[in-house]
Amino acid sequence: MAVIQWDESFSVKIADIDKQHQKLFTMVNELDAAQRQGKGKDLVGKIIDGLINYVAEHFKHEESYFDRYNYPNTKAHKQKHQEFVNKVLEFRTGFEKNRLGLSMDLMKFLGDWLNEHIKGSDLEYAPFLRQQGLK
Ligand SMILES: [Fe+2]
Ligand SMILES: [Fe+2]
Repeated sequence: MAVIQWDESFSVKIADIDKQHQKLFTMVNELDAAQRQGKGKDLVGKIIDGLINYVAEHFKHEESYFDRYNYPNTKAHKQKHQEFVNKVLEFRTGFEKNRLGLSMDLMKFLGDWLNEHIKGSDLEYAPFLRQQGLK
């Protein structure tokens, strides 16, 4: 079973952002599958690094819209992104030190965070950005 599955309830109705969220979900599920299949530490580490990079790219993308259109809740939203990045980096460091592989806590954290963040904070900016003409 997938950690997290995209459906319309996650849609911000802005095409590039929906696409990025879908890709994030795919990457989280790939990470979960690799770990369950007992893939080697190098491969799992590479998948985590890929996810970290893509998360950074996605956050930068959202934040560039906030800056461009003066989204009122920019500061709080950027802070949530930063906290997430810090937490994932913490897991990454822990993984590097621990021979036993990724803790299942990471999967739960990723799934829960994405679910809450998109349905809370991201869906909150959606009407504002659509009003600016994004679609
Ligand atoms: Fe997002
Ligand atoms: Fe966000």
